[in-house]
Amino acid sequence: MRVCRHPILTFPEGKRILFSFEGKEFEGREREPIAAALLAAGVRVFSRSPKYHRPRGFFCAAGKCTSCLMEVNGVSNVRICVTSLDGGMKIRTQRAARGPK
Ligand code: FES
Repeated sequence: MRVCRHPILTFPEGKRILFSFEGKEFEGREREPIAAALLAAGVRVFSRSPKYHRPRGFFCAAGKCTSCLMEVNGVSNVRICVTSLDGGMKIRTQRAARGPK
């Protein structure tokens, strides 16, 4: 599922690149948000609530909440809705408790 057409916005198509999510390889477009690449790959759960481990996905899509925090190339607490995808990125759901941000 990828938004390719929009009545107002344009989406320049970036070069196809490979990244990994939970150890599996996926294809995305260079410089698209990581969240967009994961949604296009069918991934809907980006994180879990700290206390009850409820699934969290896309929420604000603007870098203003904590719904999409993931581990990217070993760095925790990355907001993937506002972080661009690069080839070879290693993306994982976080397993540790969140630190202050
Ligand atoms: S979805 Fe809210 S910060 Fe990414």
